[in-house]
Amino acid sequence: MERTLVILKPSAIQRGIVGEILTRFEKVGLKIVGAKLIWPDKELLDKHYPPEREEFVTGLGQRTLDSYKELGIDVKKQFDDLDPNKIGHQVRDWLVESMMSGPVMPTVLEGPHAIEIVRKIVGHTLPQKAAPGTVRGDYSFDSAALANKSHRPINNLIHASGNAEEAEHEIGLWFTPKELHDYETVHQKHMMS
Ligand code: CDP
Ligand code: MG
Repeated sequence: MERTLVILKPSAIQRGIVGEILTRFEKVGLKIVGAKLIWPDKELLDKHYPPEREEFVTGLGQRTLDSYKELGIDVKKQFDDLDPNKIGHQVRDWLVESMMSGPVMPTVLEGPHAIEIVRKIVGHTLPQKAAPGTVRGDYSFDSAALANKSHRPINNLIHASGNAEEAEHEIGLWFTPKELHDYETVHQKHMMS
């Protein structure tokens, strides 16, 4: 059994598709063990997307560079310094800003292979690569280059923990132990006994 964190980003709340997104996890059988609506501040978001986690920041920059390359767009038009770490910091700042633009809905989901299953349902980070049937594939069509031009992150509606380490860290950041609940679902009773 695993627990993982998803966060419905401000755009998902503002578009009014909270129910449609959560239904997808519920249908699979995943159990909602924590959920709330909060307007996060910079302090919390800096812990969620830590600027000191260099491999995360550089990875963000590298993926941005890769997107430009694939699209055949000159990165120099957008960024003065082509160091993936510097670009990563820039994208991370935009990401934090955009997550502060409205309330978000962190939700903890529990089930066997919850982390992997949730990532599968959420889909690829880049909307054009997210398969139909996934949340990002069905509800988003943004582009890295368009987003960067407007000094914002790619709008892909939802966050999901990437691995067990991230999940544990992130759940602890967004929820106190008292906000996480233990109860039995129908799925547990009929599919897992
Ligand atoms: O969210 P996910 O785990 O799929 O991707 P990530 O690599 O951890 O990046 C975190 C978030 O940064 C993404 O969900 C995007 O909103 C944003 N991002 C971006 O704006 N530009 C990129 N080239 C990569 C990510
Ligand atoms: Mg991630």
